[in-house]
Amino acid sequence: MFFELTEEQLAVQEAAREFAQKELKPGVIERDSKQEFPKEQIRRMGELGFLGMMVSPEYGGGGMDTMSYVLAMEEISKVDNSCSVIMSVNNSLVCWGIETFGSEAQKAKYLPKLASGEWIGSFCLSEPEAGSDATMQRTTAVDMGDHYLLNGTKNWITNGGSSSVHLVMAQTDAEKGHKGINCLIVEADWQGVTVGAKEDKLGIRSSDTHTIMYTDVKVPKENRIGEDGFGFKFAMKTLSGGRIGIAAQALGIAGGAYELALAYSKEREAFGKPISKHQAIAFKLADMATEIEAAKLMVYRSAWLKDNSMDYDMASSMAKLYASEVAMRHTVEAVQVHGGYGFVKEYHVERLMRDAKITQIYEGTSEVQRIVISRGILKGQLY
Ligand code: CAA
Ligand code: FAD
Repeated sequence: MFFELTEEQLAVQEAAREFAQKELKPGVIERDSKQEFPKEQIRRMGELGFLGMMVSPEYGGGGMDTMSYVLAMEEISKVDNSCSVIMSVNNSLVCWGIETFGSEAQKAKYLPKLASGEWIGSFCLSEPEAGSDATMQRTTAVDMGDHYLLNGTKNWITNGGSSSVHLVMAQTDAEKGHKGINCLIVEADWQGVTVGAKEDKLGIRSSDTHTIMYTDVKVPKENRIGEDGFGFKFAMKTLSGGRIGIAAQALGIAGGAYELALAYSKEREAFGKPISKHQAIAFKLADMATEIEAAKLMVYRSAWLKDNSMDYDMASSMAKLYASEVAMRHTVEAVQVHGGYGFVKEYHVERLMRDAKITQIYEGTSEVQRIVISRGILKGQLY
């Protein structure tokens, strides 16, 4: 494993940093307060190639590796986590899922629009009674010969009000359990698709999260991804990669809060010297830097494993588990370093603290990551 980034990876990192600082930072507080979807910012991200980074050039994508994607996610997440979750779902769940497991016709039809940002995608697994326990799908896809008839409700869907394409997991044959689940590509403007109210959230407030109802939606058979019954494995495998993206988001949140705390601690004076010269504050900075470095190694390693076609299921769960806990812990500390100023929106750290929490919940809670990791250990997958 190499620790040196290539010139291309460094260029992507620099481009993402510049875009985040110059184009996302100026309006991020207002968008978050008003829960305003970052429409113009997402259009720009499509233009700059951030929405289909790993998609092959033949389908209009950037053809980049997971490492480049992680570096971009990290920089954007230092500033705007509504934009980075939209980016993460589109890249690592929707585009990657279609390109890796979809048919040639599905790739040709959907990837160019998704990679350019003309369309945005949603990944629809969770249901009111199937969150962590994802095999308990109640949404049904009844086989009608040439099409499926889709009925059910998905909740917590990121990009729910703005996406044009949904990857929907649904149960076709309940007797087969998870082996009876299919993943269907559904277009948002098809008859029978209804988008519910937008959730009013603690963090990532300008991303739009909705419940989506499907009522007698006719989905052509050619829109099923993979063989009959492949839907649950499709979701699990796709989420293994998705978790690398969320781990990178958490890493960016922690890094962004650390950079703000470090700069502030050098400027703010108390008792005749910068607060960074008080050991209590200096030690907080030392702990932040150390744990962020450890999280970085885990996140980059999981990307490296994926790029080198090695098994990354456990590594991505470990990276997400650890990076999200570091993000939560150190955004709280970054607020503390800022004192009262940390408690107001202007200084950005309170938003990062609110955003950190979701990284411990979505794409599998910290408890679910521990299930994946402990099962892997018991199967002898590590050491
Ligand atoms: N790759 C391929 N197959 C996998 C797999 C993987 N990573 N993980 C599990 N499977 C397979 C298993 O091999 C098994 O197949 P067989 O029966 O043929 O062996 C099948 O899937 C069922 O696996 P389990 O028995 O392990 O299933 P389980 O019911 O015990 O659940 C779980 C395991 C890890 C808890 C899983 O349900 C899970 O990941 N839950 C969390 C759901 C989740 O992450 N949701 C995220 C929604 S998307 C989102 O959140 C997006 C966003 O916010 C931005
Ligand atoms: P539950 O599964 O009910 O869990 C409740 C608590 O019990 C958690 O602490 C959990 O860890 C714990 N728990 C459950 N089972 C176990 C166990 N076996 N052992 C130990 N502890 C356990 N989903 C999508 O499909 N697509 C999306 O785009 C999407 N975006 C989201 C965006 C936001 C802002 C949010 C909040 C959620 C999103 N989700 C999405 C859903 C998310 O993935 C789920 O919320 C998550 O998987 C947890 O499911 P749940 O909320 O039903 O919690």
